[in-house]
Amino acid sequence: MVGNPRMKLLELKNISERYMELINPTSPEKVLTIGKILGLKEGSLVIDFGCGFGEPLALWAERFGISGIGVDIREHACDRAKKKMSERGVADRIKIVCAKGAEYQFEKQSFDVAVCMGASFIWGGYRPTIRGMKEAIHSRGKLVIGEPYWLKEPVPPEYARTEQAVHTEYELLQITREEGLDVEYVVRASHDDWDRYEADNWYGLIRWIEENPNHPERQEVIENLHKSQDEYFRYAREYFGWAMHVLNPISY
Ligand SMILES: C[S@@+](CC[C@H](N)C(=O)[O-])C[C@H]1O[C@@H](n2cnc3c(N)ncnc32)[C@H](O)[C@@H]1O
Repeated sequence: MVGNPRMKLLELKNISERYMELINPTSPEKVLTIGKILGLKEGSLVIDFGCGFGEPLALWAERFGISGIGVDIREHACDRAKKKMSERGVADRIKIVCAKGAEYQFEKQSFDVAVCMGASFIWGGYRPTIRGMKEAIHSRGKLVIGEPYWLKEPVPPEYARTEQAVHTEYELLQITREEGLDVEYVVRASHDDWDRYEADNWYGLIRWIEENPNHPERQEVIENLHKSQDEYFRYAREYFGWAMHVLNPISY
């Protein structure tokens, strides 16, 4: 692990996400449902910001024949995503770019769909994510944003403080409309999706802890595991939701 705290967090994610393909509380079936709702077909052009290991793009390329670009800041994620595209026979249609999402120069208004699942921090929040991604799609294009939201309020202040960019889902709806789009569809995370996502992270951390008995940062990884579990059982299961919203810049 390296000294820079941001890099350290990303390094920790490489460990915890080792056995995961989708890095969000969702499932291949739910991602495919979104693809169907979007009307994806052969030749549809999709850009995915914060694409992680590229699983949504791979699923849509296999099932619907899309082409696209995935952008992720993390070299480890980009390498895994590129390997996956080759192994699944879609590398000729899905390009993976290792770059900061907000700085990536794409061709404006050229995509059918722009996606950001669980990475709106790329632009610093939900509203700037809509603004940033709207530039990528043509007039009949759509956005997909996978975003956390408060399941209920009031949220205990000690937990709310750790998640300051989070809105209620009703607030997300209002922001969407203020930005000139409508929510066309929603597919939300179930408790099972959350359990799988959280537990897969812990599974990755525990395998690494077992395999690295003498690593100088082992204790830090153990502390991170316990912190993540404390937060999940104490607060997140009750207060933290996540959903993929399909947004349509429909004009009336
Ligand atoms: C929660 S994961 C979601 C990955 C993927 N969308 C999925 O659903 O499987 C967030 C991803 O955003 C990436 N990321 C973080 N900061 C970024 C940035 N500034 N630009 C592009 N990607 C970024 C991380 O490396 C990580 O892979």
